[in-house]
Amino acid sequence: MFEDLLRAWDGEEVAVRFDAATDTWMFVCVHSTRLGPSCGGTRMKPYAAPHDALEDGLRLASAMTSKSAVAGLPLGGGKAVLAVPSIPEGGRRRELLLRYGDLVDALGGTYVTACDMNTSERDMDVVAERTHHLMGRSTESGGSGSSAPSTAVGVFHGIRAAVRHVSGSQDLAGRTVLIQGVGAVGRALADLLADAGARLLLSDVDDERARDAAAGCGGEVVRADRTIGTECDVFSPCATGGVLDASTIPALRCRIVVGAANNQLGAPEDAERLSARGILYAPDYVVNAGGIIHLASLELLGEDEAARDERLRGIADTLAECLRIAEAEGIPTGAAAERMVAARLAAA
Ligand code: NAI
Repeated sequence: MFEDLLRAWDGEEVAVRFDAATDTWMFVCVHSTRLGPSCGGTRMKPYAAPHDALEDGLRLASAMTSKSAVAGLPLGGGKAVLAVPSIPEGGRRRELLLRYGDLVDALGGTYVTACDMNTSERDMDVVAERTHHLMGRSTESGGSGSSAPSTAVGVFHGIRAAVRHVSGSQDLAGRTVLIQGVGAVGRALADLLADAGARLLLSDVDDERARDAAAGCGGEVVRADRTIGTECDVFSPCATGGVLDASTIPALRCRIVVGAANNQLGAPEDAERLSARGILYAPDYVVNAGGIIHLASLELLGEDEAARDERLRGIADTLAECLRIAEAEGIPTGAAAERMVAARLAAA
C-alpha cells in the first residue's frame, strides 16, 4: 500500500521511521524544496493503519507547497505525521518527541517542522533539544508562540476581500458570519468579526465552548448538527477538513465560504459544485496561510510584527487576485489558485 501512495505522489521524498518503544510510525513528507526548505507542522494522531497516516501526510505536504507559494514565502511544502496508537503524555511523549527531533535533524534542514494537530509550542520546545530545524517554540523559549491568532487575522482579511468582491464594499457591519469550530482560530476570528460589527453565529461540537464564545463576543449559538443548513452571508469552517461535499453543498445557505480549516473540499469536483450553486469559495490554503506567515516572518525572515501584519493583510490581495482570475477565465476559484501556485513555482 505504501508503494501505491508513493508512486501516485509528485513530491520529493518521504522519511519513514518506526519507533518501537511507542509503537509509532513517523512519516516526514517532503513535497517540494523548490522555493526553500519544505515546511509544515507535525500532526500527532491515531490512525486505523499506517497507510492512512502516510496518505494524510502526503496530501498535507502538497497543500503546504501551495500555501507557502501563494503566500509569497521562501518556503517549500512538507508535513510530518506521528501515527501513535493513542496520544502519549508525560515521559513517554517527551521521549517520542526527542527521537522525532533526531529524525528531523537527520534530514539536515530539508524539512523544517512546527506545530499541528495535537502538538503544541511546548512540544516544539522538546523537539528543539535535538534539532534547530523548527519554528513555533513557546515565547519563553525564544519562539514566536501560537500561530492561531495570525491565522484568524488572515481569515478575517479573506472574509473582507470576499465580501468586497461580491458586494463592492468590505464593510462587515450587519453581515452574518457563521463560524464552525470556535477553538484557537475560530474564537479569535469571532472577536475580530465582532469588533467589525458582524452578526455572529457560532457552532462547536463542544457545547460549552460554543456558549463561552457566544457570551464573549455577543454571538448566538447554532447547534453543531444544524450548522450546514443555517442561513448566513459567510460560512467560515474553522473545525475540520472535508466539510464541503456532495451531501453538504446542496444544503448550504450562504453566499460565501471563507475559513481556516485545511482541505475543506471533500473532493476536487466539489469546487465545481460550489460555483454551480453561485457560492464563492475562498480556497482554504489561500486564506489560512496566516499561521505559516507568522512563523516564517518572525522566526525565519527575522521581521518584526509590523512586517508580519503587512504580510497578513496581503492575504486579502492574494484572494482578490484569485477571484479576479476565476471570474475572468470562468474557472472555479480553486483552479485559479492552482494557476497562481504554478506561476510562482515556475518563476523560481
Ligand atoms: P482547535 O482544535 O483549537 O479548534 C477546533 C474546534 O473545532 C474545537 O473547538 C472543536 O471542538 C471544534 N470542532 C471539531 N469538529 C467540529 C464539528 N464537526 N463541528 C463544530 N465544531 C467542531 O483548532 P484550531 O487551531 O482552531 O484550527 C482550526 C482549523 O484550522 C483546523 O482545521 C486546523 O487544521 C486549521 N488551521 C489552523 C491553523 C493554526 O494556526 N492553528 C493554521 C492553518 C489551518
